[in-house]
Amino acid sequence: MHDAVWLNANLATMTPHGAIVDGALAVRQGRISWVGPRSAWKDKAHEEHDARGAWMLPGFVDCHTHLVYAGTRAHEFELRLQGASYEDIAKAGGGIVSTVRATRSASEAELLALAQKRLERWIAEGTAVIEVKSGYGLDRETELKMLRVARRLGGVTVKTTFLGAHAVPEEYKGRADAYIDLVRKEVLPAAEAEKLVDAVDAFCERIAFNRHQTARVFTAAEKLKLPVKLHADQLSDLGGAALAAKHGALSADHLEYTSDSGVEAMARARTVAVLLPGAFYFLRETRLPPIAALRRHRVPIALGTDHNPGSSPLSSPLLAMNLACTLFHLTPDEALAGFTINGARALGMQETHGSLEVGKAADLALWEVEAPAELAYAIGANPCVGRIRLYASAQIGSGP
Ligand code: NIG
Ligand code: FE
Repeated sequence: MHDAVWLNANLATMTPHGAIVDGALAVRQGRISWVGPRSAWKDKAHEEHDARGAWMLPGFVDCHTHLVYAGTRAHEFELRLQGASYEDIAKAGGGIVSTVRATRSASEAELLALAQKRLERWIAEGTAVIEVKSGYGLDRETELKMLRVARRLGGVTVKTTFLGAHAVPEEYKGRADAYIDLVRKEVLPAAEAEKLVDAVDAFCERIAFNRHQTARVFTAAEKLKLPVKLHADQLSDLGGAALAAKHGALSADHLEYTSDSGVEAMARARTVAVLLPGAFYFLRETRLPPIAALRRHRVPIALGTDHNPGSSPLSSPLLAMNLACTLFHLTPDEALAGFTINGARALGMQETHGSLEVGKAADLALWEVEAPAELAYAIGANPCVGRIRLYASAQIGSGP
């Protein structure tokens, strides 16, 4: 006996089997227990729901955000419109470190209220899982504060990524190596000791950390048996994608300047490519990520909003999908995979999330559209008409 079944739903399974028009999907103990055409449904369930012809998709997975922070950077937006570049602003003491100042002075309660309010936008758009990075603390106290806040967010499953190596804090100006020592020896171990870290990320870029410094962060993560990810090749080709692949990274993110050999290395290491069209758009970048090479080498392409106050103040997975299609020439199917199965892969969650398959989480969304491609096509519409979220509570209920 199943707990519940949804009948009269079209199922975008996000598996190679494709869509099931007029399907049925049943759940039991927080997991999908039956998927197929309605005509084949002969079982029984305690509850029966009529999906009224809506499309059912796995809940979205946004695998790259910086959701927890204080302050805005609207004045930097104005400066950029007058001709300053993102790198100019960072070098002049603005950029990431200006958000660090605001985040250090905010209390945990203030940060939580701000982030929870932002998160409601993702929830309204059928999101099941969101990754949230630290990286606006750049000291032990504030990095841990950000991660605690992320873990306290409600309404979605949260994955936390430690991004202590996001920028060199002001008090370490000119001493990036010493700051990396602090991250390796003190901040990351303290965060891990509190069990606040699901993965470790770094910003490998001219205005942040070089390959050697990034590799030192990765080896510290490896010692703690934590998976790694990387902000790689966003503004220049520092060989970040290849470095991430060398360390078996879950994902390499941004990738505008990644070379063909970087893509090949990612393919060999099964590192997911996370594309972030919000940052590309908002920084008015012109160099496209190597989409053709990613396709040729069959590197899974995930998408994220990259929500952050400086380079991507974007709070909509749906708009991120549209931008990925219009700016990066992804197909709507690729964009949907980017926020479902491949987003889950970028977080190492593909066993439980990202597709409609028996055994996977009953974290789903219902959409009033004629076809799933409409989700990537419409701008500013939100046709989400329901969210089903049964997995997390069933996990707690079932005990160890
Ligand atoms: O993913 N690239 C580095 N980190 C962010 C930007 C953070 C910021 O500007 O505050 C990003 O684009
Ligand atoms: Fe980012």
